[in-house]
This record gives sequence, C-alpha cells and structure tokens, in this order.
Amino acid sequence: VGQNLVTLKEVDSTNTFLKNLVSNSKPLPEGTVIMAENQYAGRGQQQNRWFTEAGKNLSFSILLKPTFLLLNDQFALTQAISLGVAKALSYVAGEGIKIKWPNDIYYNNRKLGGILIENMVQGAQINNSVIGIGLNINQEQFPDYLPHATSLWQILHRDYELKALLSEICGHIEAVYLRLKAGKVAEIKQEYLSFLFGLNETRRFRSNEKEFEGRITGVTERGLLKIQTDEAEYEYNLKEVEFLIN
Ligand code: BTN
Repeated sequence: VGQNLVTLKEVDSTNTFLKNLVSNSKPLPEGTVIMAENQYAGRGQQQNRWFTEAGKNLSFSILLKPTFLLLNDQFALTQAISLGVAKALSYVAGEGIKIKWPNDIYYNNRKLGGILIENMVQGAQINNSVIGIGLNINQEQFPDYLPHATSLWQILHRDYELKALLSEICGHIEAVYLRLKAGKVAEIKQEYLSFLFGLNETRRFRSNEKEFEGRITGVTERGLLKIQTDEAEYEYNLKEVEFLIN
C-alpha cells in the first residue's frame, strides 16, 4: 500500500477522483494511493461534507481489491482499515487513540479523523474498494462549526511531515489487510474492540428522537452496534443511533 502514490495539489475529493479512474477502467495496481494537498468538496459518511485546512492535513484514498470478500462481509474490511489507522496513530501519539464505531478515529472525546469506504461490487463480490481517509494533523485551530474536532498538533504541539506519516499509516493498513486476506477476521475483531470508544462504559445515546442510557457491549459480524440497556440488548445500524458526546 502506497508504493504507487499520486499527489494532487487540489481535487474535489480523492475518493471521487479514484472512483472515476476505476470506473473508466484505468488499470491501477492494488494499493495505489491518491493524496491531495487540498480537497474542496471532501465527502464524509452519510452524505456529510469533510472540511480540512489546505496543506495541513492528510486527505487520501487507497485502492484495494478485496475480491475475497462478499459485500455482506464488508464490515470486516471496515474493521481492518480502522484498526490499521488506529495502530499507526497510537504508534505516533501513544495511548488515547480510539475507534468510534464504526470507523471514526478519536482522541479523548474529540474526532481526529474519519474513514469513508466505497465498495464497488460485481454480483455479491467486492471487486474494488476505495478507502478514503482524512486525518487532522497540523491544523492548529478549528472553526466553531466543528466543535468536536482535534488534530495531532492539538495533542502533541508539533508539526508532522505528511508524507512520512502517510507511509507509516499505509504500512500499518497493509499489515492488517494481509491478516484479513489470510482469514484472521476473529483476531482483527478482538483488536478492533480493544480500541473501541466507550466499550463497556455507560453512555448516552439517541435513537428515534429519544435519548437513553446504555452500555456498548460489542459489534455484530455485520457491523451493528450492540447496546445493553436496563430493558434489553439492542442492535443498531449507523443511521439508527447517535452517540451523544459532550
Ligand atoms: C467521515 O468521518 O465522515 C469520513 C471522512 C472521510 C474523509 C476522507 S478525506 C479523503 C477522502 N476523500 C473524501 O472526499 N473523503 C475521504
């Protein structure tokens, strides 16, 4: 991952750019990385936008070809990628890096980065996967509309060389991806859980406009979040539940 690296000065979204190359049948090796110094229409999960200060942060997309995965198993890929990113950042920033379900990267209640995985399928099989990763690195301040954001700079008060960090992250992702390919899904899940934000802690959630208290007990194979309340254990998908963080 990252051997074939393309750096762009500016692009709408590295995910859109890479998806277009793939749909136009441009032959690209697995592990190709498209990185942009600036993204003017960065995309996040659930149709959100992704904002980042030009030149300060990491915005990149990786092409993987997980043809060994069925679309139904895509959460295994989500787990592997978020684990790779969390391990790389822990290596850099030490303890405190968490994965907020399903694949946000957090540090102390603050969002350090996010991942947007877009799979292309052929029948029931995934044939190409565009893994978009945005991480706040050298940005010192965030606008008021991003009250939950943080950056490595805010944590460690120093600047990082973006390309060096990128290669560290790619190395960790590749290592976990190879384990996934070798069928080590259960192991990866355990390690993912060890990074899971709020695991076994009582937290507040909102679902269907109702707030409630519950304890995250884990995730299902399909990636649903399991929350135990006084009444029962519930399973939620992404659109159904919101984690309330102060
Ligand atoms: C999220 O937290 O909602 C996911 C954010 C993903 C942002 C990255 S930046 C590189 C890639 N290109 C995009 O347009 N989005 C992803």
